Amino acid sequence: MGLQPQGGGSGGQKAGLCGRKMAHARQIASRDEYLLNGVRIFSQVLGLSAQKALVQDLRDVAQKAPFFHPKTARGRKMSVQMTAAGHFGWVSDGKGYRYEPRHPSGGAWPPIPAALLALWQEFCPNARAPECCLINYYGQGARMGLHQDRDETDFDQPVLSLSLGDDALFRVGGTTRGGPTQSHWLRSGDVALLDGSARLAYHGIDRIRFGSSDLLSRAGRLNITLRVVR
Ligand code: SIN
Ligand code: FE2
Repeated sequence: MGLQPQGGGSGGQKAGLCGRKMAHARQIASRDEYLLNGVRIFSQVLGLSAQKALVQDLRDVAQKAPFFHPKTARGRKMSVQMTAAGHFGWVSDGKGYRYEPRHPSGGAWPPIPAALLALWQEFCPNARAPECCLINYYGQGARMGLHQDRDETDFDQPVLSLSLGDDALFRVGGTTRGGPTQSHWLRSGDVALLDGSARLAYHGIDRIRFGSSDLLSRAGRLNITLRVVR
């Protein structure tokens, strides 16, 4: 699902909508694509000015919903800092991993920035609207171990990921733990799409090249993932 033109598919779409979705599919088809164990990587989707504007949007989000260091269920502080926008944010603490409608401080999450909703429309035209925009900040030495994104209810809905700032070594495996993995350096402006048979692919960030980009006012990397939660 997700990227196929609707014409030969399951049907039921109105002609106007169908035409719009085919235009989207063509837009994606014209992009450079790289496959990492089925995860689709699109290089340099956002140019520098779009990246800068988005960083400002994300700063506004973080002002209302400050970054925090989630803890694993075992009480270990994760190296990545997180916040979110949308109806839900992903949190992790002694009670485990889950989506929550409120920031740990009690406030609602700010709305998802329009530029990210537009990106979702381009890459996931057939999906439901994203309900969570998870924002991860990787400072020096931060990493993320191999994991599946499976706290959502409907695995037919894709996860769309955008990288901003420092380069990151992205590792992708199969849908079972322990299989062969492939790695790729994600750069600022790159998009990754976990969809279809790769929706539940194991993935993680081995390391970042701290200071490799000057997009952010401090070095580091932002990763944004858009998810349908329910
Ligand atoms: C994630 O899996 O939530 C983040 C992946 C990334 O930082 O690229
Ligand atoms: Fe993930």
